[in-house]
Amino acid sequence: MNTTLTFHNHKPETLSLQEAVVTGLSKAKKAIAPKFFYDQRGSELFDQICNQPEYYPPTIEQSILSSNADEIANLAGEGRVLVEPGAGSAAKVRLLLNNLQPSAYVPMDISFDHLKSAATDLSNDYPWLPVHATCVDFTHSLPIPDVVPNGPRMLFFPGSSIGNFERKEANEFLSMIHDAIGKNGMLLIGVDTKKNEDILNAAYNDEAGVTAEFNMNLLLRIKKELGIDFSLDNFKHNAYYNSDAGRIEMHLVSTRKQTLNINGHTIILDKDESVHTENSYKYSPDEFITLAENNNFEPVKFWTDTDNLFAVYLMKIH
Ligand code: AVJ
Repeated sequence: MNTTLTFHNHKPETLSLQEAVVTGLSKAKKAIAPKFFYDQRGSELFDQICNQPEYYPPTIEQSILSSNADEIANLAGEGRVLVEPGAGSAAKVRLLLNNLQPSAYVPMDISFDHLKSAATDLSNDYPWLPVHATCVDFTHSLPIPDVVPNGPRMLFFPGSSIGNFERKEANEFLSMIHDAIGKNGMLLIGVDTKKNEDILNAAYNDEAGVTAEFNMNLLLRIKKELGIDFSLDNFKHNAYYNSDAGRIEMHLVSTRKQTLNINGHTIILDKDESVHTENSYKYSPDEFITLAENNNFEPVKFWTDTDNLFAVYLMKIH
């Protein structure tokens, strides 16, 4: 039934957990990059976050995408190569495929197992669609496999993943997208907006504790993969909106003074010292459009929900 399903592995050497942990925990302000959340369990927990009532972005983004899929397809035209960095479970793209009728779909993800099952399911459900799944750390490169047909491209970057980047990195990423999609390329991107802080704080502190478990899973990963012995009770989840910086911050806070021995590296954490694990920047439409324009994108149209909780932008190369 499948027309095509191919796999491409670009897993870079830079993805060493040990290196990231030792370097990150040796800094004055301890930090580990959010991409290390996404092992198999972390990817599952992220999917569960998306089902929590407080975590509004997926529901709202999905309703924006499904109510406007027809218009998006009219503005973009059929037959594009659709590229999705950080595709995860590849759920949102399903809202667009029938309308967009892409010539191929290129999901990219850092977690091979997650990518494999998502691409296989999608390929079974859309037998007319060639799928070229690419395992890559998309923060470094967007390698579009050679087997992908020529023709105009559309890069789909939903979920406000751009929020993980600092401004400088967001600029670099947008210019990397610009290069990857090339002539007549388009960008369809979902971005979380600035809003009432209570809504933001609740979204990262859900009642069921799934976001906390997602954050803490990073420690479980460190324990298992690096073979380090410490109790998870030595840390707690902390997430809050930093209004000066315009971002949610997630931290793992040390509940006591402790020493971690990471294969010969000694790391000391004071009581209440935090390990910064994620930033999630929020953008007003004006801020986001300016950011995109600074990287030679031109807005075609954007859509929001009635409460302006989330925005989806269609951009073209300028
Ligand atoms: C996948 C980066 C968009 O920032 O909201 C959700 C990740 N972290 N809950 C976000 C996340 C905690 C998410 N992004």
